[in-house]
This record gives sequence, structure tokens and C-alpha cells, in this order.
Amino acid sequence: MKIAIIGHGNVGGALAKRWAQAGHLCVIGARDPKSDKVIDLIQGANGVSATEVKHCVRGAGAILVATPPDAIPGIAEEIGDVSNSIIIDATNSVFKKPEGYDNGLEAFKALTNAKSVVKCFNTTGFENMENPDYDGEKADMFLAGGNKEAKALAEQLAKDAGFGEVYDFGGDDKVALIESFAMAWINLAIMQKYGRGMAFKVLRR
Ligand SMILES: NC(=O)c1ccc[n+]([C@@H]2O[C@H](COP(=O)([O-])OP(=O)(O)OC[C@H]3O[C@@H](n4cnc5c(N)ncnc54)[C@H](OP(=O)(O)O)[C@@H]3O)[C@@H](O)[C@H]2O)c1
Repeated sequence: MKIAIIGHGNVGGALAKRWAQAGHLCVIGARDPKSDKVIDLIQGANGVSATEVKHCVRGAGAILVATPPDAIPGIAEEIGDVSNSIIIDATNSVFKKPEGYDNGLEAFKALTNAKSVVKCFNTTGFENMENPDYDGEKADMFLAGGNKEAKALAEQLAKDAGFGEVYDFGGDDKVALIESFAMAWINLAIMQKYGRGMAFKVLRR
């Protein structure tokens, strides 16, 4: 699948490499597609290319957004018609928000004509996206949103990136909860100093 990736930093860069390794065609949409950072990323990964933000979305089945949340209104305007794509929102509006909205999912739903928007890849550190494997145990992934097709796609892409089980937090009304769950990881890993080499795995019986 062609996946457009807007935001090629820690999160976007890690997922672009994982998805390209899994056989997807990843097209970075960057403000400066010729920057050293973008060139380094595409040179280090077969199947990753780069263009301008407005062009990367053409023909993309999925659009991953991994930018600061306050960039979202501008991005929504720039990408234009995305009616054939599903937006996967990896942003966390825990410190900043898209102006006028509580979170990225809400903003993209209001500001674009995307088929649907799902929140995923926001609950763990980017190091776990680079490598979700802990001595043979795969870190779990979590998602939220109101559209089944979008959730099925995000689940498949989480598995393609190497995650284990994918747990569904529920509909759009659970986006605030999944962002608080991200804050729980940030609190443990960074503020309580357990370190970023930690991930959530659910035990069930
Ligand atoms: N870091 C984590 O472990 C982590 C984990 C889960 C979720 N998140 C969330 O994921 C998002 C990205 O975090 P990150 O750590 O990957 O950030 P980052 O490393 O700072 O990367 C941000 C990326 O966004 C791009 N960007 C900024 N404004 C843009 C705009 N208007 N249009 C297009 N691209 C733009 C930047 O490109 P330029 O080079 O042009 O500046 C950069 O590539 C945040 O919302 C964060 O809360 C982060």
C-alpha cells in the first residue's frame, strides 16, 4: 500500500522504515523534501521517498500524521482532497492542541474529507516503533476511533510494524482516554525515570 507520512521525525521516520521493510511504499510529505534529514531517511531505507506535503497524499491508502498537533490545521488545508484515504493520527495533544480543537482526530474529521480518521501509534515511545521486540515478546499497540475500516487498517499496519496484539479503546469518545494513556507512558518513562526502553503489554486470562 502507498502510505503518505507527514512528519518525518522520531515517529514518522521510525514507522516509514518499518513499513517499507514490510513492503509498503512510504512517501514522506515534508516542508523541505530536500533537507539533510529527509535525504538521510530516504537513503537509509529502500521503499521510502519524499515530496511536498500537498503531493504525498495522492493515491495513498493511508496518511500517517506525526507532527506537532498545532501544525494540523495548516496540514489539513494543504492536503486538500483526501477522500480516498484513511488518516492515522499519531499526534498527542497533551501539551499543545490544534487551534480550535481538542485533538488531532477531531481536527482532521472537521477539516478534511478523509474516509475516516483513527488514533494510533500515539501511546508508546518512538524507540518502540523502531523496535517493538523485547526478548521475543512484542509490545502491544492501542487505537481509538469510530470507523471499523480505519481501525482494521491501523491494526494491520501496527502488526506490519512488528507490534503484538492491537487493543481497541473504543470510538471517538475514547480519544481523550487514549491520549491520557500516552501520558501514562510519558510519565513512567520520562518523569518517573523508568527509561524509554519500556512498553505496555496486556496480560489476559
Ligand atoms: N516522540 C515520541 O516518542 C512520540 C510517541 C508517540 C507520539 N508522538 C507524537 O507524534 C508527534 C511527532 O512527534 P516526534 O517526536 O516524531 O516529533 P519530531 O521528531 O519533532 O518530528 C516532527 C516532524 O513534524 C514535521 N512538521 C512540523 N510541522 C510541520 C508542518 N506544518 N507540515 C509538515 N511537517 C511538519 C517536522 O518537519 P520539519 O523538519 O519540517 O520541521 C518533523 O519531521 C507529536 O504529536 C507527538 O506528540 C511522539
